[in-house]
Amino acid sequence: MEFKKALVTGGAGFIGSHIAQDLLSNNIETIVVDNLYMGKEEYIPSGCRFVKMDIMDADKLEDMFDGVDIVFHQAAHVTIRNSIDNFYNDAYTNIMGTVNVINAVMKKNVKKLIYASSMGVYGQALSLPMKEDQKLEPTSPYGISKLAAEKYCLQMAEFGSFDAVALRYFNTFGTKQTLTPYVGVITIFINRLLEGKVPLIFGDGKQIRDFVSVLDIARANILAMKHGKNGQVMNIGSGKGTTVNEVAQMIIDRMDGGIKPEYGSPQAGEPGDSIADITRAREFINYEPRYFLSDKIDEIIEWNKRR
Ligand SMILES: NC(=O)c1ccc[n+]([C@@H]2O[C@H](COP(=O)([O-])OP(=O)(O)OC[C@H]3O[C@@H](n4cnc5c(N)ncnc54)[C@H](O)[C@@H]3O)[C@@H](O)[C@H]2O)c1
Repeated sequence: MEFKKALVTGGAGFIGSHIAQDLLSNNIETIVVDNLYMGKEEYIPSGCRFVKMDIMDADKLEDMFDGVDIVFHQAAHVTIRNSIDNFYNDAYTNIMGTVNVINAVMKKNVKKLIYASSMGVYGQALSLPMKEDQKLEPTSPYGISKLAAEKYCLQMAEFGSFDAVALRYFNTFGTKQTLTPYVGVITIFINRLLEGKVPLIFGDGKQIRDFVSVLDIARANILAMKHGKNGQVMNIGSGKGTTVNEVAQMIIDRMDGGIKPEYGSPQAGEPGDSIADITRAREFINYEPRYFLSDKIDEIIEWNKRR
């Protein structure tokens, strides 16, 4: 299958803007659709065509899909914690927005859809590392919405004439992450230190997370474009676990050696430990993580200082 023209929903956001960059590097004409709810126009790589549009605007969205070969669907409301108070809006965007994207894919005969799924679909890990076939019991409205949307993509691909691949991203770190109180513990800790505050850890900080570079996530999307087969679902992580305490210490050591983090109560909806089993991604699309947090942390701190 040949892909000449791609569309990235949410391409002004953290992950989408990196995918758009990799698409351009692969000489693929790239359209970014984003309503700038969270993303920023300056994050969109030059060379992309940018259309400011809401994916909820189904008719206009459909027009954007003319001649598009492949869609990378990243646009979503991305937060576990905030999705409890905002479950209606999050479900509307994450589920119905995805339905709009699938509808446009089907009407305009797009060949392939790569869906940005999430580790949030699992809920609690039944064993570590987490395999894709473990029970899916999301513990947050966000996780439910990502799971529903993932199922819509895969099921409609069965009925339709397009291929769908779902990539379940783990905790992604890197530059260009929008600063919010809810998503991206690394970006949040760095920015608290830049504001003269200490990192605030929810719970005892011993919770394990799989921190994966946004560069690896973007590359996994390109690999899924090239090698992913219809119906495949796979974890995209680093395959390694790091505690939140270790992350806080790594950042403190580099930014303000003497201080200690503060601890607050655990947050509702947050899953326990998580580490991705990346065997499937290795097998299906030849994915291998290249960047680890300790190699990239200085660059991310510098980027946040210049933000
Ligand atoms: N960041 C993570 O650690 C992580 C982990 C697992 C899965 N994901 C998934 O990856 C995808 C990208 O996440 P991100 O971290 O880059 O978040 P982000 O908020 O930076 O990017 C999402 C983008 O979608 C846009 N958007 C939101 N609603 C829209 C709408 N109605 N119409 C058009 N554009 C809209 C936002 O403006 C933003 O630019 C999401 O689908 C998310 O669920 C992210």
